Amino acid sequence: MSAHRPSPPADKVALTYGKRTWRYPVLTGSEGEKAVDISTLRQDTGLITLDPGYVNTGACTSDITFIDGERGILRHRGYSIEDLAEHCVFLEVAYLLILGKLPNRQEWQSFSDLMNRHSMIHEDMRDFFLNYPEGAHPMAVLSAMVVSLSSFYPEIEQEDPNEPIDITATRLLSKLRTIAAFSYKKSIGEPFVYPSCRMSYCENFLNMMFSSPVNDYTPDPVVVRALNLFLILHADHEQNCSTSVVRIVGSAGSSLYASISAGICALWGPLHGGANQAVIEMLERILREDRGKVDKVIARAKQRDARTRLMGFGHRIYKTYDPRAKIAKEVCTRLLSRLGMRNDPILEIAMELEEKALADSYFQERHLYPNVDFYTGIAYRAMGIPTNMFTVMFAIGRLPGWIAHWMENRRDPRQKIGRPRQIYVGPTARPFIPMDQR
Ligand code: ACO
Repeated sequence: MSAHRPSPPADKVALTYGKRTWRYPVLTGSEGEKAVDISTLRQDTGLITLDPGYVNTGACTSDITFIDGERGILRHRGYSIEDLAEHCVFLEVAYLLILGKLPNRQEWQSFSDLMNRHSMIHEDMRDFFLNYPEGAHPMAVLSAMVVSLSSFYPEIEQEDPNEPIDITATRLLSKLRTIAAFSYKKSIGEPFVYPSCRMSYCENFLNMMFSSPVNDYTPDPVVVRALNLFLILHADHEQNCSTSVVRIVGSAGSSLYASISAGICALWGPLHGGANQAVIEMLERILREDRGKVDKVIARAKQRDARTRLMGFGHRIYKTYDPRAKIAKEVCTRLLSRLGMRNDPILEIAMELEEKALADSYFQERHLYPNVDFYTGIAYRAMGIPTNMFTVMFAIGRLPGWIAHWMENRRDPRQKIGRPRQIYVGPTARPFIPMDQR
């Protein structure tokens, strides 16, 4: 798939600077969003734009995901997140994101066979896990292991035009899940469990996490379905922080593995995917210390200090309820009820926190709603997944999106190496001072 070109410009924006005026074309996307194309701005005027956090800056055109943050709409390749969550398993959505269409039965079978065939990691990579110290964060292990794949599978970095499904992408999708489960087993000192050809993607993951020589684990279909749903909710979210990192690393010509490894590090941050871990830690702190603390946490969050924010709330794009959070909340409450945890105190605190925040003018004025991370951690916790693995779960889910964007960027003839400019505000030229005179 290659990115569509936007419609030919109908309007122009005039920029007057000094005595001259330039006109820049206004481009329109397929859903009506508009952008001023300033690609010749510096060449014309000598000016650059300054936009910290890229709040107003589009870096590419893309035909993968559409978000309308004002109306709470999220679609992948035109399909709504609600439909995909209801009707698909995670791997179908991965196929859709990477290959641009939903698979038919035959395509689905060959994709599943390929995933199965590539699910193991090279035996020598097992040794890497053994040398990490106890307590190593699984996100650090995951990122390091992914970049290490490039030394074990160097031959698969070239796209093969004869292969309908990209082999590098398939291997990465399949192996990331195995690496994640191995990193958990290492952290609790249990032997690794290998993937099984008789299990689906999510069953396999749960089995590699929870079975052991002394525990004949059978994945619960309710948990398997919920896991599929959560991974679908994470699967892509257009030009978010980690995806932009993947694109920009890829734009330098770096391999898929190197780019994804960098994306994993970006996702780890608490303002991004790391928020799901931070949310559960916040809720557990409230439970441990004082139930009445919900009000104190909300009051602290209003201090407008980045360190005291209400984790799992707010979003750069959504100015209404995040559609993924809506689904996550429903699935989470359903899951807990099916698992006999209907009265889970953590869920109760989360719901109280949400209710109070949504009724508070500070959150209303700033359009701050729960984001996807608010309820996912509660569900992962109910599945038995430890807190420090929550962001790993997000990474497994986000992988197809990262791959799709990396490929789109590679194939787009208009893309250049990502290289923002800056306005220098440091000292102007000054004479060098030798060390003994400083
Ligand atoms: N709690 C309290 N206040 C908040 C919160 C929050 N969670 N989020 C934003 N605000 C406030 C800011 O203080 C700011 O107030 P001001 O206008 O009075 O200065 C206003 O809302 C706008 O916030 P920005 O930081 O400008 O919004 P931005 O788009 O840059 O940040 C972000 C978005 C990082 C998600 C932010 O809302 C946040 O830190 N949330 C908590 C962390 C979190 O849940 N991250 C996960 C995001 S989803 C994801 O990445 C998968």
